Amino acid sequence: MRKERMEKRSEEKIKKIEKMNRAKESGQKIVLDLEFSDLMTSNEIHSLVQQIMYCYAVNGRCNLPANLWLTGCGGELQTQLQRIPGFDKWMIEKENRSYIEAFEHQKENLVYLTADAETVLDDLDQKKIYIIGGLVDRNRWKGITMKKANDQGISTAKLPIGSFLKMSSSQVLTVNQVVEILLQFSETRDWKTSFFQVIPQRKRCEAEAEAEAEEQEDDADQADIKKKCIQQPSSDDEDSPT
Ligand SMILES: C[S@@+](CC[C@H](N)C(=O)[O-])C[C@H]1O[C@@H](n2cnc3c(N)ncnc32)[C@H](O)[C@@H]1O
Repeated sequence: MRKERMEKRSEEKIKKIEKMNRAKESGQKIVLDLEFSDLMTSNEIHSLVQQIMYCYAVNGRCNLPANLWLTGCGGELQTQLQRIPGFDKWMIEKENRSYIEAFEHQKENLVYLTADAETVLDDLDQKKIYIIGGLVDRNRWKGITMKKANDQGISTAKLPIGSFLKMSSSQVLTVNQVVEILLQFSETRDWKTSFFQVIPQRKRCEAEAEAEAEEQEDDADQADIKKKCIQQPSSDDEDSPT
């Protein structure tokens, strides 16, 4: 039994490695820009490291993983990342240079995702390289990624949140939420589903949350109905021949 379990586990491991190798070759490129280390407190860097760990785990679990990059890593952020057990073996691209250097021949394909952009991201383009600002700042550094992208002359885009839901506060999401939305969208090609899966109910407007709660109640009612149908056969069923 133990041997079987071990064999199953090693098969799963091999499959996962194959999946991650495919992602490295042909997965959607998503870059976490880690050049903001100096603008964060130690606690904020710690939170960012947790978010990066979460991104890595979610990417490894999903059916269609992205080709995840960490670029511009240095300072305390690098020190904290290197303290993560097994970080050296992570199947992720680690690049000390900035994305602008690492992708210098593909500058036209770089798209910085920022809530301050005018352009709305309608779809993901396999050729493009989507950059997410590695920043935990409670929006203290308002507009910093937009300014950086503009200064570098690269495209910007915001997630189409406003087209699908109302937020109770700002539309600025955390790094892991943005990564998870992109991963969900890669699989479903459906923004609404992706937002509802990832953005917590408390961040959404009450009307939205209520509508979803009603939907969930309907689903629960439906499940209840099904359960009852199974438990209590109708009189027709009772009369049916066995
Ligand atoms: C916590 S936010 C950082 C906010 C920071 N003040 C800024 O100017 O970008 C982390 C990153 O997630 C991405 N992000 C957050 N909300 C977004 C949205 N609504 N659309 C596109 N990207 C978003 C951006 O790349 C952003 O830099």
